[in-house]
Amino acid sequence: MRIGIIGAGFIGRAVAQLLIAAGHEAMLSNSRGPKTLTSVASGIPGSQVGTVEQAAAFGDMVLLAIPFEYYPHVPAQWLAGKIVLDANNYYPDRDGQVPVLDRFETTTSRLIAEHFKDARVVKVFNAILANDLLTDGRPSHTPERRALPIAADDAEAKVAVTQLLDDVGFDTVDTGGLDDSWRFERAKPAYCVPLDKDGLRTALAAAEREVELPMGSWRR
Ligand SMILES: NC(=O)c1ccc[n+]([C@@H]2O[C@H](COP(=O)([O-])OP(=O)(O)OC[C@H]3O[C@@H](n4cnc5c(N)ncnc54)[C@H](OP(=O)(O)O)[C@@H]3O)[C@@H](O)[C@H]2O)c1
Repeated sequence: MRIGIIGAGFIGRAVAQLLIAAGHEAMLSNSRGPKTLTSVASGIPGSQVGTVEQAAAFGDMVLLAIPFEYYPHVPAQWLAGKIVLDANNYYPDRDGQVPVLDRFETTTSRLIAEHFKDARVVKVFNAILANDLLTDGRPSHTPERRALPIAADDAEAKVAVTQLLDDVGFDTVDTGGLDDSWRFERAKPAYCVPLDKDGLRTALAAAEREVELPMGSWRR
């Protein structure tokens, strides 16, 4: 499968490495253009680089892995018809205050889906540290294999992303629609904690809508 990647930082590069190791194709992009990505390309053998528009057009799936505040800068029409893998998290200190999120009235992935209105958004890869992506993957059926939460409104897109996660080393727990994705947003019990399927289900069930864990408590 061909997957475009918008954002060539920690998470974009880690996912690109996983995809290529699993036999998929990945094109990375950033805001400054492919000339600034030569060292990224040479550091990830087999990766391709392009403009954001080229990465968006590259495949049927596109990973959005940029600081949350910048998603409105990506033209919605570039992702029309795509499955958008939304890895983003809201950090007010970095992204600025977003009152509807501060009041727990919506989710980051719902806001992103409202912008990319002709795309099928799947929340995925947001609740694992980039470094853990490179170390925690295991073959299918490995006991206690790490599971990642996903959420989406489109059942077919969820099936495709579940297969992709299996390819790159992870089980999946389906958390529901985009409006349920708050259960694994920043500072919830399932956020960036290594858990197998059963443990992840327990952590997701323990989440409370307006309760946040202390900042950074998820870092090992
Ligand atoms: N780091 C993690 O462990 C981790 C884990 C899970 C989820 N996340 C989430 O994933 C997102 C990315 O995090 P990160 O740590 O990978 O960030 P990062 O290392 O700071 O990299 C951000 C990347 O986004 C690019 N970018 C910024 N604005 C852009 C735009 N308008 N168009 C295209 N590219 C743009 C930057 O390119 P330029 O340098 O050219 O601007 C850079 O390549 C965040 O929402 C974060 O919360 C991170």
